Amino acid sequence: MQVVKPLFEARALRQKLSGTVGFVPTMGYLHEGHLALVKQARIENSAVIVSIYVNPTQFGPREDFGAYPRDLNRDLELLKGGGVDIVFVPSDDEMYPPEFSSWVDVEKVTERLEGAARPGHFRGVATVVAKLFNIVQPSRAYFGQKDAQQVMVIKRMVADLNMGIEIVVVPTLRESDGLAMSSRNIYLSPKERQAAMILFKALTLARQLRRGGEKDAEEIRRQMTALIQKEPLAQIDYVSIADAEALEELSSIDRPAVASLAVRIGKTRLIDNMPLE
Ligand code: PAJ
Repeated sequence: MQVVKPLFEARALRQKLSGTVGFVPTMGYLHEGHLALVKQARIENSAVIVSIYVNPTQFGPREDFGAYPRDLNRDLELLKGGGVDIVFVPSDDEMYPPEFSSWVDVEKVTERLEGAARPGHFRGVATVVAKLFNIVQPSRAYFGQKDAQQVMVIKRMVADLNMGIEIVVVPTLRESDGLAMSSRNIYLSPKERQAAMILFKALTLARQLRRGGEKDAEEIRRQMTALIQKEPLAQIDYVSIADAEALEELSSIDRPAVASLAVRIGKTRLIDNMPLE
């Protein structure tokens, strides 16, 4: 496993690899969810490249860029033995030099949910992922279902800009009580950690209602909202029942749908989602 910082070295090492290259972009502070992407990439490719980079351009001015957890040594320990060929750890100086002025703006799918709640977020994500794709030149890239809208944005970008990279989506890994694994879970106090279960509970309720034959999306949103409101530490950002293709809010569930939500537990903003078949 080679750890590289300079961009020219990452390019040079990548050129030496033969066969298919699987790429897993991350912001570090790795957990089992990230490692599931690495495992899948390992199975499906001749070589695996992981990037670790807390991308400043996808954080809003009042968001947690400064506080975002970082521990490179811990991350490298976790990646050891996982069959990773290259860990690319770019620097801000090289990724965003002062003269930097080109952005990737994916329209429509970014207007809703996370895009609406976090203006500029997906512009930062699409731009950094496009840059990483250009440096790493992967055959396949691996993303988590946990960030369902991010997957849609990346798929749209790859198709629109003819990048020719296969996007592989890996199911969400959860703690034993259902909480989706996330680097941000570290922010939660023990009390908040308990309260955070409410996201999974609300999504499970949505799935149960749907399986029970409920077609009225507003009724499902209403019941999810009522359940979350019973948790005193939780504050709802949004609760959505949307179509799984374009993430447009549904009134009647007449096609594949996904329940998704963003909830603040204390100061920590958590997101999660569940396909409703
Ligand atoms: P990060 O939050 O570090 O996540 C890296 C990848 O791991 C993403 O594809 C995310 O969906 C996936 N992931 C996170 N938690 C997961 C879980 N519990 N189960 C399965 N997969 C999970 O997402 C980003 O970084 C950034 O936006 C990035 C794409 C790297 C661009 O900066």
